[in-house]
Amino acid sequence: MRIDIDAARIVSELETLATFSDTEPPAVTRIVYTHADQRARAWLKEQCIAAGLSVREDALGNLFARWQGSEVSAGAVGTGSHIDAIPHSGRYDGTTGVLGGLEAIRALRRCGFTPRRPIELLAFISEEPTRFGLGCLGSRMLAGSLTAEEAADLRDRDDQSLDTVRNAAHFSGSLSTVKLPAQYYSSFIELHIEQGPILEKENVPIGVVTHIAGPAALRVLIEGEGGHAGAVLMPQRRDAFLGAAEIALALEADALSTGSEDTVGTCGLVDVFPGLSNSIPSRVRLELDIRDTLLSRRDAVLHHLEKQCRDIAAKRKLRIRSTVLHADDPAGCDPTVTTALVRACDAEGLAYWRMVSRAYHDSLFMSRIAPTAMLFIPCKNGVSHRPDEFAAPEDIANGARVLARTLAALAS
Ligand code: GLV
Ligand code: MN
Ligand code: MN
Repeated sequence: MRIDIDAARIVSELETLATFSDTEPPAVTRIVYTHADQRARAWLKEQCIAAGLSVREDALGNLFARWQGSEVSAGAVGTGSHIDAIPHSGRYDGTTGVLGGLEAIRALRRCGFTPRRPIELLAFISEEPTRFGLGCLGSRMLAGSLTAEEAADLRDRDDQSLDTVRNAAHFSGSLSTVKLPAQYYSSFIELHIEQGPILEKENVPIGVVTHIAGPAALRVLIEGEGGHAGAVLMPQRRDAFLGAAEIALALEADALSTGSEDTVGTCGLVDVFPGLSNSIPSRVRLELDIRDTLLSRRDAVLHHLEKQCRDIAAKRKLRIRSTVLHADDPAGCDPTVTTALVRACDAEGLAYWRMVSRAYHDSLFMSRIAPTAMLFIPCKNGVSHRPDEFAAPEDIANGARVLARTLAALAS
């Protein structure tokens, strides 16, 4: 079977999707449930319907577009990714898997393939943690890893509940209906840009992901004492930001101390109050991100950091409270699905490397309910989460072609 991918169409669709944004191009900002996100979703639904797929959305906003198979009740083969985008990011993260998946399905339809199992495209809601501080919200709930009761406690930065914002975006109904029935998917495959430099550097067109690192996030609230930046002498200070600075450096030291390049730690959110140059910081909120492919090593860093927070609090006479926002296990990709990917690469004459995903993806949660694998394509200079994120049309087409062939094999 020869599979023809329309690369120009995917590129043009990526360009259109990038216009639904709250920042000026080339930067993309598309936060879940905002007007930009809603417009993007409406446009995506139109594309799915035009491709002949039946579209439905669940109470949270996960979007499903189904190509029915000849065996209607068989577990579906799922593919897809996310369309939300962190502030000031680019146009390929997540979207390549959604629009590449859509084109893979269109290509299979064009070449006359008839699936036995249904093939279903998914656009997961809120893969990015931007709004609720919790990544993979959609897939987490589909997998039953976050219950409706736990989700009801989520608040965004304006202290609005998940229910308030999803209802305002016209998603209603009980969140207890979001969890998928057992065996809903017989397998799941996600196409994504690598978000790292390896494939480009090694000139390899496809990455077959074997493991996905497990992320954890820690929120740290630090309280000290504010005051006049000139009048309060240094020995008398209880500067909350200096405690925060020590915690950030402790995180770096802990991540480096494992000796494994798979351990990474980031302090990406620092909110200083009152945030004025002539006022001693009295309160700081930090959010820290720790990841590893090995759960025990990741958790050792997490727990040591929590201890360091207590030590720094005592040393600097600060009040420090830390809360684990989430601590997700790493995932292994399923050998049956990775074998199907490898066969598809061979059939297309494309070289591949087996690799680890250090970024997290909805596949982390899909792997809990279905045999799951991911394929990566190169991105320029390994850059992601930045406006200059770029994937070449030829690489996108290769990814979509391998995806299509794998979907066909798994749905036959
Ligand atoms: C997902 O975007 C991640 O932070 O890995
Ligand atoms: Mn991302
Ligand atoms: Mn992504």
